[in-house]
Amino acid sequence: MRKIPSSEITPEHTYLSRRAFLGGAGALSAAALLAACGGGTPAPAVTPRPADGRTDDLGDPLNSLEQISNYNNYYEFTTDKEGVARLAQQFQTSPWEVQVGGMVGKPRTFGLEDLLALGQEERIYRLRCVEAWSMVIPWSGFPLGRLLAAVEPQAGAKYVRFETVYRPEEMPGQRDRFYPWPYVEGLRLDEAMHDLTLLATGLYGQGLAPQNGGPVRLVVPWKYGFKSIKAIAKIDLVAEAPTSLWMALAPNEYGFYANVNPEVDHPRWSQASERRIGELRRRPTLPFNGYADEVAALYAGMDLREHY
Ligand code: MTE
Repeated sequence: MRKIPSSEITPEHTYLSRRAFLGGAGALSAAALLAACGGGTPAPAVTPRPADGRTDDLGDPLNSLEQISNYNNYYEFTTDKEGVARLAQQFQTSPWEVQVGGMVGKPRTFGLEDLLALGQEERIYRLRCVEAWSMVIPWSGFPLGRLLAAVEPQAGAKYVRFETVYRPEEMPGQRDRFYPWPYVEGLRLDEAMHDLTLLATGLYGQGLAPQNGGPVRLVVPWKYGFKSIKAIAKIDLVAEAPTSLWMALAPNEYGFYANVNPEVDHPRWSQASERRIGELRRRPTLPFNGYADEVAALYAGMDLREHY
Protein backbone atom coordinates (compact mmCIF):
# COMPACT_ATOMS: atom_id res chain seq x y z
CA MET A 1 0.00 0.00 0.00
CA ARG A 2 1.45 3.27 -1.07
CA LYS A 3 0.97 6.47 0.84
CA ILE A 4 0.26 9.43 -1.41
CA PRO A 5 2.85 12.18 -1.11
CA SER A 6 1.31 15.63 -0.77
CA SER A 7 3.11 16.60 -3.98
CA GLU A 8 0.68 14.39 -5.86
CA ILE A 9 -2.43 15.92 -4.43
CA THR A 10 -4.10 18.00 -7.06
CA PRO A 11 -5.40 21.48 -6.33
CA GLU A 12 -8.98 21.94 -7.40
CA HIS A 13 -8.21 24.29 -10.30
CA THR A 14 -6.02 21.73 -12.04
CA TYR A 15 -8.46 18.95 -11.45
CA LEU A 16 -10.30 19.17 -14.75
CA SER A 17 -7.15 19.21 -16.81
CA ARG A 18 -5.82 16.30 -14.78
CA ARG A 19 -8.99 14.40 -15.52
CA ALA A 20 -8.60 15.09 -19.20
CA PHE A 21 -5.04 13.81 -18.96
CA LEU A 22 -6.14 10.69 -17.12
CA GLY A 23 -8.35 9.82 -20.01
CA GLY A 24 -5.21 9.54 -22.11
CA ALA A 25 -2.40 7.04 -22.22
CA GLY A 26 -1.21 5.42 -19.05
CA ALA A 27 -3.37 7.11 -16.45
CA LEU A 28 -0.25 7.01 -14.33
CA SER A 29 -1.40 9.21 -11.50
CA ALA A 30 -4.64 7.35 -11.15
CA ALA A 31 -2.65 4.14 -11.14
CA ALA A 32 -0.63 5.45 -8.24
CA LEU A 33 -3.70 6.61 -6.37
CA LEU A 34 -5.42 3.34 -6.84
CA ALA A 35 -2.36 1.45 -5.71
CA ALA A 36 -4.47 0.33 -2.78
CA CYS A 37 -6.40 -1.53 -5.41
CA GLY A 38 -3.20 -3.27 -6.54
CA GLY A 39 -2.04 -6.79 -5.83
CA GLY A 40 0.24 -7.77 -3.00
CA THR A 41 -1.94 -6.43 -0.21
CA PRO A 42 -0.45 -7.51 3.11
CA ALA A 43 -2.27 -9.90 5.42
CA PRO A 44 -4.30 -8.09 8.07
CA ALA A 45 -2.53 -7.69 11.38
CA VAL A 46 -5.47 -9.03 13.34
CA THR A 47 -5.51 -12.37 15.04
CA PRO A 48 -8.14 -14.37 13.22
CA ARG A 49 -10.49 -15.95 15.70
CA PRO A 50 -12.63 -18.73 14.40
CA ALA A 51 -15.94 -17.41 13.16
CA ASP A 52 -19.12 -19.00 14.45
CA GLY A 53 -18.89 -22.26 12.51
CA ARG A 54 -21.32 -21.24 9.80
CA THR A 55 -20.52 -21.23 6.10
CA ASP A 56 -21.66 -19.59 2.89
CA ASP A 57 -23.66 -21.44 0.21
CA LEU A 58 -20.42 -22.93 -1.15
CA GLY A 59 -19.41 -24.38 2.23
CA ASP A 60 -16.69 -21.84 3.03
CA PRO A 61 -16.42 -20.47 6.57
CA LEU A 62 -17.46 -16.97 7.51
CA ASN A 63 -14.71 -14.46 8.16
CA SER A 64 -14.52 -13.37 11.78
CA LEU A 65 -15.97 -10.08 13.02
CA GLU A 66 -12.40 -9.01 13.83
CA GLN A 67 -11.29 -9.55 10.24
CA ILE A 68 -14.34 -7.85 8.75
CA SER A 69 -13.99 -4.86 11.10
CA ASN A 70 -10.25 -4.27 10.75
CA TYR A 71 -9.44 -4.65 7.06
CA ASN A 72 -11.48 -2.13 5.12
CA ASN A 73 -11.52 -0.03 2.02
CA TYR A 74 -12.97 3.39 2.76
CA TYR A 75 -11.15 6.19 0.98
CA GLU A 76 -13.18 8.88 2.75
CA PHE A 77 -11.06 8.03 5.80
CA THR A 78 -7.76 6.66 4.52
CA THR A 79 -6.29 4.40 1.87
CA ASP A 80 -4.70 2.33 4.67
CA LYS A 81 -7.00 -0.67 5.11
CA GLU A 82 -5.87 -1.31 8.66
CA GLY A 83 -6.27 2.33 9.63
CA VAL A 84 -9.91 2.82 8.65
CA ALA A 85 -11.44 1.36 11.82
CA ARG A 86 -9.64 3.80 14.11
CA LEU A 87 -10.24 6.89 11.97
CA ALA A 88 -13.92 6.06 11.50
CA GLN A 89 -14.63 5.62 15.20
CA GLN A 90 -15.91 9.16 15.72
CA PHE A 91 -18.05 9.19 12.59
CA GLN A 92 -21.63 10.16 13.47
CA THR A 93 -24.02 7.51 12.18
CA SER A 94 -27.02 8.78 14.11
CA PRO A 95 -29.28 10.56 13.29
CA TRP A 96 -29.18 9.48 9.64
CA GLU A 97 -31.33 10.22 6.61
CA VAL A 98 -31.38 8.83 3.10
CA GLN A 99 -33.05 11.04 0.47
CA VAL A 100 -34.68 8.96 -2.25
CA GLY A 101 -35.82 10.85 -5.33
CA GLY A 102 -35.25 11.56 -8.99
CA MET A 103 -37.63 9.85 -11.42
CA VAL A 104 -40.05 8.48 -8.84
CA GLY A 105 -43.72 9.01 -8.10
CA LYS A 106 -43.23 9.30 -4.34
CA PRO A 107 -39.91 10.89 -3.36
CA ARG A 108 -39.22 10.39 0.31
CA THR A 109 -36.60 10.86 2.99
CA PHE A 110 -36.05 7.74 5.06
CA GLY A 111 -34.69 7.88 8.60
CA LEU A 112 -32.71 4.89 9.78
CA GLU A 113 -35.78 3.68 11.72
CA ASP A 114 -37.80 3.75 8.47
CA LEU A 115 -35.14 1.63 6.80
CA LEU A 116 -35.02 -0.85 9.67
CA ALA A 117 -38.81 -1.13 9.42
CA LEU A 118 -38.42 -2.39 5.85
CA GLY A 119 -37.10 -5.65 7.26
CA GLN A 120 -34.04 -7.34 8.68
CA GLU A 121 -32.88 -10.63 7.27
CA GLU A 122 -29.46 -12.21 7.29
CA ARG A 123 -27.60 -12.80 4.02
CA ILE A 124 -24.24 -14.55 4.00
CA TYR A 125 -22.41 -13.23 0.95
CA ARG A 126 -18.91 -13.36 -0.48
CA LEU A 127 -17.37 -9.90 -0.91
CA ARG A 128 -14.75 -9.86 -3.67
CA CYS A 129 -12.69 -6.69 -3.85
CA VAL A 130 -11.33 -5.62 -7.23
CA GLU A 131 -7.91 -5.81 -5.55
CA ALA A 132 -8.27 -9.63 -5.51
CA TRP A 133 -8.94 -10.26 -1.85
CA SER A 134 -12.23 -11.58 -0.51
CA MET A 135 -14.22 -12.32 2.65
CA VAL A 136 -17.43 -14.10 3.61
CA ILE A 137 -19.70 -11.74 5.55
CA PRO A 138 -23.02 -12.29 7.34
CA TRP A 139 -24.89 -9.07 6.52
CA SER A 140 -28.28 -8.07 7.77
CA GLY A 141 -30.58 -5.85 5.81
CA PHE A 142 -33.31 -6.01 3.20
CA PRO A 143 -33.52 -6.17 -0.58
CA LEU A 144 -33.05 -2.71 -2.12
CA GLY A 145 -36.00 -3.47 -4.42
CA ARG A 146 -38.33 -3.09 -1.44
CA LEU A 147 -37.25 0.51 -0.92
CA LEU A 148 -37.40 1.28 -4.65
CA ALA A 149 -40.91 -0.15 -4.92
CA ALA A 150 -41.99 2.14 -2.08
CA VAL A 151 -41.00 5.28 -4.02
CA GLU A 152 -42.60 4.09 -7.29
CA PRO A 153 -40.02 4.39 -10.09
CA GLN A 154 -41.34 6.19 -13.18
CA ALA A 155 -41.29 4.56 -16.62
CA GLY A 156 -38.25 6.56 -17.78
CA ALA A 157 -36.09 5.52 -14.81
CA LYS A 158 -33.43 3.09 -16.05
CA TYR A 159 -30.62 3.42 -13.51
CA VAL A 160 -30.11 4.04 -9.81
CA ARG A 161 -27.49 6.50 -8.60
CA PHE A 162 -26.12 6.26 -5.04
CA GLU A 163 -24.16 8.89 -3.17
CA THR A 164 -22.14 8.66 0.04
CA VAL A 165 -22.49 11.40 2.64
CA TYR A 166 -20.11 14.37 2.20
CA ARG A 167 -18.64 15.40 5.56
CA PRO A 168 -15.02 16.42 5.16
CA GLU A 169 -14.94 17.60 8.76
CA GLU A 170 -15.49 14.00 9.89
CA MET A 171 -13.94 12.18 6.95
CA PRO A 172 -10.30 13.22 6.55
CA GLY A 173 -9.93 11.53 3.16
CA GLN A 174 -12.60 13.84 1.74
CA ARG A 175 -10.23 16.77 2.27
CA ASP A 176 -8.03 15.27 -0.45
CA ARG A 177 -9.29 17.24 -3.42
CA PHE A 178 -7.86 14.81 -5.96
CA TYR A 179 -10.90 12.59 -5.60
CA PRO A 180 -14.18 13.86 -7.03
CA TRP A 181 -16.13 13.48 -3.79
CA PRO A 182 -18.73 12.47 -2.87
CA TYR A 183 -18.31 8.77 -3.69
CA VAL A 184 -20.90 7.83 -6.30
CA GLU A 185 -21.96 4.45 -7.61
CA GLY A 186 -24.70 3.21 -9.88
CA LEU A 187 -26.67 0.15 -10.95
CA ARG A 188 -29.00 -0.60 -13.80
CA LEU A 189 -32.56 -0.61 -12.46
CA ASP A 190 -33.00 -4.37 -13.03
CA GLU A 191 -29.74 -5.04 -11.14
CA ALA A 192 -30.96 -2.81 -8.33
CA MET A 193 -34.28 -4.67 -8.21
CA HIS A 194 -32.60 -8.11 -8.14
CA ASP A 195 -33.32 -10.00 -4.95
CA LEU A 196 -29.60 -10.46 -4.14
CA THR A 197 -29.03 -6.69 -4.04
CA LEU A 198 -29.10 -5.72 -0.40
CA LEU A 199 -29.28 -2.52 1.60
CA ALA A 200 -27.28 -3.61 4.63
CA THR A 201 -27.81 -2.12 8.07
CA GLY A 202 -25.80 -4.64 10.08
CA LEU A 203 -23.44 -7.59 10.18
CA TYR A 204 -22.98 -10.45 12.62
CA GLY A 205 -26.31 -9.43 14.13
CA GLN A 206 -25.01 -5.99 15.19
CA GLY A 207 -25.55 -2.53 13.73
CA LEU A 208 -23.19 -1.67 10.89
CA ALA A 209 -19.95 -0.19 12.25
CA PRO A 210 -18.72 3.05 10.63
CA GLN A 211 -15.76 1.32 8.96
CA ASN A 212 -18.12 -1.11 7.22
CA GLY A 213 -20.27 1.70 5.84
CA GLY A 214 -22.66 2.22 8.72
CA PRO A 215 -25.34 2.97 9.22
CA VAL A 216 -26.47 1.88 5.75
CA ARG A 217 -24.63 0.64 2.67
CA LEU A 218 -25.24 -1.26 -0.52
CA VAL A 219 -24.11 -4.87 -0.99
CA VAL A 220 -24.05 -6.28 -4.54
CA PRO A 221 -22.36 -9.67 -4.10
CA TRP A 222 -21.72 -10.53 -7.76
CA LYS A 223 -19.85 -7.28 -8.47
CA TYR A 224 -16.45 -6.04 -7.31
CA GLY A 225 -16.65 -4.56 -3.84
CA PHE A 226 -16.28 -0.94 -4.98
CA LYS A 227 -19.86 -1.06 -6.28
CA SER A 228 -21.05 -1.70 -2.70
CA ILE A 229 -21.12 1.96 -1.68
CA LYS A 230 -20.95 2.86 2.01
CA ALA A 231 -22.75 5.44 4.20
CA ILE A 232 -25.46 6.21 1.67
CA ALA A 233 -27.08 9.64 1.96
CA LYS A 234 -28.86 9.88 -1.40
CA ILE A 235 -30.46 7.52 -3.91
CA ASP A 236 -31.81 8.81 -7.22
CA LEU A 237 -33.64 7.06 -10.01
CA VAL A 238 -32.24 8.38 -13.29
CA ALA A 239 -32.49 7.89 -17.05
CA GLU A 240 -28.77 7.62 -17.89
CA ALA A 241 -25.98 5.47 -16.46
CA PRO A 242 -24.35 7.41 -13.60
CA THR A 243 -20.60 8.06 -13.65
CA SER A 244 -19.06 6.53 -10.55
CA LEU A 245 -16.12 8.05 -8.68
CA TRP A 246 -13.81 5.33 -9.99
CA MET A 247 -15.04 5.72 -13.57
CA ALA A 248 -14.35 9.45 -13.34
CA LEU A 249 -10.82 8.84 -12.05
CA ALA A 250 -9.73 5.90 -14.21
CA PRO A 251 -12.30 4.90 -16.83
CA ASN A 252 -9.88 2.46 -18.46
CA GLU A 253 -9.58 0.53 -15.20
CA TYR A 254 -13.05 0.68 -13.65
CA GLY A 255 -16.18 0.24 -15.73
CA PHE A 256 -19.82 0.70 -14.90
CA TYR A 257 -20.68 -3.00 -14.61
CA ALA A 258 -17.74 -4.35 -12.55
CA ASN A 259 -19.13 -7.87 -12.54
CA VAL A 260 -16.65 -10.29 -10.98
CA ASN A 261 -15.04 -12.04 -13.94
CA PRO A 262 -11.93 -14.24 -13.74
CA GLU A 263 -11.48 -13.93 -17.50
CA VAL A 264 -11.20 -10.16 -17.65
CA ASP A 265 -8.06 -8.95 -15.94
CA HIS A 266 -7.63 -5.55 -14.41
CA PRO A 267 -5.13 -3.66 -16.61
CA ARG A 268 -2.58 -3.93 -13.79
CA TRP A 269 -3.24 -7.39 -12.30
CA SER A 270 -4.92 -10.73 -12.90
CA GLN A 271 -8.45 -11.39 -11.72
CA ALA A 272 -8.15 -15.17 -12.20
CA SER A 273 -7.56 -15.87 -8.51
CA GLU A 274 -7.99 -14.19 -5.16
CA ARG A 275 -6.81 -14.31 -1.57
CA ARG A 276 -9.52 -15.09 0.96
CA ILE A 277 -8.62 -13.11 4.08
CA GLY A 278 -7.39 -15.62 6.66
CA GLU A 279 -6.19 -18.16 4.08
CA LEU A 280 -2.67 -18.70 2.79
CA ARG A 281 -3.29 -20.20 -0.64
CA ARG A 282 -5.00 -18.25 -3.36
CA ARG A 283 -8.25 -19.65 -4.67
CA PRO A 284 -9.76 -19.39 -8.14
CA THR A 285 -12.15 -16.51 -8.69
CA LEU A 286 -15.64 -17.58 -9.72
CA PRO A 287 -17.66 -15.94 -12.51
CA PHE A 288 -20.07 -13.45 -10.94
CA ASN A 289 -18.37 -14.31 -7.62
CA GLY A 290 -20.25 -17.62 -7.51
CA TYR A 291 -23.70 -16.12 -8.14
CA ALA A 292 -23.88 -16.84 -11.89
CA ASP A 293 -26.98 -19.04 -11.60
CA GLU A 294 -28.85 -16.15 -10.05
CA VAL A 295 -27.60 -13.21 -12.12
CA ALA A 296 -26.04 -14.27 -15.45
CA ALA A 297 -29.39 -13.83 -17.22
CA LEU A 298 -29.25 -10.09 -16.49
CA TYR A 299 -26.41 -9.87 -19.02
CA ALA A 300 -27.69 -12.22 -21.72
CA GLY A 301 -26.33 -11.15 -25.11
CA MET A 302 -23.88 -8.63 -23.67
CA ASP A 303 -20.14 -8.79 -24.36
CA LEU A 304 -18.78 -8.81 -20.81
CA ARG A 305 -15.28 -7.93 -22.03
CA GLU A 306 -16.60 -4.74 -23.50
CA HIS A 307 -18.94 -4.00 -20.60
CA TYR A 308 -16.39 -4.57 -17.82
N1 MTE B 1 -17.79 3.13 -0.32
C1 MTE B 1 -17.30 4.36 -0.08
N2 MTE B 1 -18.15 5.37 0.16
N3 MTE B 1 -15.96 4.61 -0.09
C2 MTE B 1 -15.05 3.61 -0.36
O1 MTE B 1 -13.82 3.88 -0.38
N4 MTE B 1 -14.71 1.24 -0.92
C3 MTE B 1 -15.31 0.13 -1.67
C4 MTE B 1 -16.64 -0.30 -1.06
N5 MTE B 1 -17.47 0.85 -0.75
C5 MTE B 1 -15.54 2.29 -0.62
C6 MTE B 1 -16.95 2.09 -0.56
C7 MTE B 1 -14.42 -1.02 -1.80
S1 MTE B 1 -13.11 -0.87 -2.89
C8 MTE B 1 -14.68 -2.20 -1.14
S2 MTE B 1 -13.75 -3.59 -1.47
C9 MTE B 1 -15.72 -2.30 -0.11
O2 MTE B 1 -16.38 -1.07 0.11
C10 MTE B 1 -15.09 -2.76 1.19
O3 MTE B 1 -16.07 -2.96 2.18
P1 MTE B 1 -15.61 -3.39 3.64
O4 MTE B 1 -14.56 -2.44 4.09
O5 MTE B 1 -16.84 -3.36 4.49
O6 MTE B 1 -15.06 -4.80 3.51
